[in-house]
Amino acid sequence: PTPAAFSQTLINWYEQHKRSLPWRDTTNPYYIWLSEVILQQTRVAQGLPYYLKFKKSYPTVQELASAPQDEVLRLWQGLGYYSRARNMHHTAQLVVEKYGGRFPDKYEELLKLKGVGSYTAAAIAAFAFKEQVAVLDGNVFRVLARVFGIADDIAAPASRKVFQKLADSLVPSEQPDSYNQAIMEFGAIQCTPIMPDCLFCPLQQQCFAFNHGMVQELPVKSKA
Ligand code: ADE
Repeated sequence: PTPAAFSQTLINWYEQHKRSLPWRDTTNPYYIWLSEVILQQTRVAQGLPYYLKFKKSYPTVQELASAPQDEVLRLWQGLGYYSRARNMHHTAQLVVEKYGGRFPDKYEELLKLKGVGSYTAAAIAAFAFKEQVAVLDGNVFRVLARVFGIADDIAAPASRKVFQKLADSLVPSEQPDSYNQAIMEFGAIQCTPIMPDCLFCPLQQQCFAFNHGMVQELPVKSKA
């Protein structure tokens, strides 16, 4: 598919099928950052109550920044990977002290924050500031590999460039936020790892993997 057809198809699909999730109703970068940090290595169902709890306990980045570390870690209990909570607390303090309590509004600036990698920086830039950047997670790798027939090993670091380049070329200038949510959601609930719903897929006719009987073979992933 052309980039315009691809993005529009996904946005249309998203409008019909998206799950209602609380961090999708906001453009507040602090809430988006909070949700993305919590959802790293965590399923939506597991992360959701933590997101609500943190938002309630710390409605602003200032309140998170001034909270005692042990209290933050206690709220985090059960999520694991405690370095995420410590980085989060540290970054909240940095945002308050260095940025006057306002998150940077550019991908490149966001990347400088501790615990904010390319995924989280792109998510904040796209969802909060509508920057035309591609958010790349496992769902996006899978959708791109199948639709465009990319056989590069998604576990190999060198493949990232291949996918990033393709992904960047697909982000529309209009609604980059909805598009990025859409492709992630599409991977999460339609183009799933096991038994994807190809029969009812709006990209079926344009999908390389479907047309070549390779849905089970793509994406290629070497190590477990
Ligand atoms: N997992 C990580 N980020 C997400 C998001 N923005 N929406 C749904 N699931 C997610």
